[in-house]
Amino acid sequence: MQEKTMDIPAFDVAHVRQEFPILERKVNGQPLVYFDNAATVQKPQSVIDALVHYYSHYNANIHRGVHSLAQEATQAYEDARKTIQQHINAEHAHEIIFTMGTTDAINLVMQSWGRSELHQGDTVLISALEHHSNMVPWHLLKQEKGIHIEVIPIHEDGSLNMEAYAELLQNGVKLVCVNHVSNALGSINPIKKMVQLAHEAGAKTMIDGAQALPHAKVDVRDLNADFYAFSGHKVYGPTGIGILYGKEALLNQMPPWRGGGEMIASVTYQSSTYNTLPHKFEAGTPNIAGGIVLGSAIDFVNTLGVENIERHEAQLLNYLVEKAAHIDGLKVYGTAKEKAGVFSFLVDGTHPYDVGTLLDQMGVAVRTGHHCAEPLMNHFGIPGTIRASFACYNTFEEVDVFVHSLERALKMLR
Ligand code: ALA
Repeated sequence: MQEKTMDIPAFDVAHVRQEFPILERKVNGQPLVYFDNAATVQKPQSVIDALVHYYSHYNANIHRGVHSLAQEATQAYEDARKTIQQHINAEHAHEIIFTMGTTDAINLVMQSWGRSELHQGDTVLISALEHHSNMVPWHLLKQEKGIHIEVIPIHEDGSLNMEAYAELLQNGVKLVCVNHVSNALGSINPIKKMVQLAHEAGAKTMIDGAQALPHAKVDVRDLNADFYAFSGHKVYGPTGIGILYGKEALLNQMPPWRGGGEMIASVTYQSSTYNTLPHKFEAGTPNIAGGIVLGSAIDFVNTLGVENIERHEAQLLNYLVEKAAHIDGLKVYGTAKEKAGVFSFLVDGTHPYDVGTLLDQMGVAVRTGHHCAEPLMNHFGIPGTIRASFACYNTFEEVDVFVHSLERALKMLR
């Protein structure tokens, strides 16, 4: 269904950049340096084209019509599901549930699995690195059912304290719910080991992979996670679409969360029976365009090679760490050995918002604030950080511009 086939050699960042029309624009009269990729990444032309192509050529509702457009749209939507299944190495396509995003996927697990399997006094174990979307759903369940929430502590470098984790697991934990990569610090958590320890302790695992999937190879069968979630917009796809992967046996046991068309087998005025996977969890007309285009985004990532993206971003991070080391009063938050392309920092005598605003004047986009991880910022005793985060299209020259712009901003502020 995709109109355009890409022809990008091995990993040539100049070619990669040509795929992203937004990178040609100027911001405040300066060439855009987009370093806010942990918030959302920009979209390649092939993804934009796939969206336009769907609405221009075969827009129709899916799983409902015998007419040609409905069948083409259904085929493309289910093909996208298979692309995603293969990308994360799930055993079955029906273990891939389309959601609105990572937050929606975590809420699905909380509402369906959590509300039926967790009871007063049961413990959900999260980590000190979590984003609000992996805390607040469990707060809601705590209010409703009286579950306990325990927190895996971190070391000063932003890595998880695995000894504390092993100890906490001994206290009747039912679910371990952690991110794969911290959005605020970039720490990469040892998920495979964590899942193994959780299973040995009789707990299920829910992994928030929003910041991992765009930057590294994720194999859900190798990780052996029970649930794994990610968002489309952080992996070069559209907003409003995401994935919950769940093991077939678990998803089959779980009750539906949302009721409506599509998720039913049959309906009387008084009751319903439910459809099979994955439809049981996809009530109503879904985000058809989003699902199809997420498939195109995964194709884009595979064309580049996720290992190439990972290596390129790691090189950018090392380069930035070296270049920033000489800036007086700059403190990096998150220095774990295993770390993705996130550079979170503060500079003595300046406020992150002021730095971010001045950087924007110079065309540089970063995120400032608590990064939806307020408890983590409280742990460090800071209001927030300035965060630069990388994607496949960023360059060493952009790092130079960033460091130079930062130095100029600091001169104005100090
Ligand atoms: N989770 C996104 C971020 O870290 C929104 O910026």
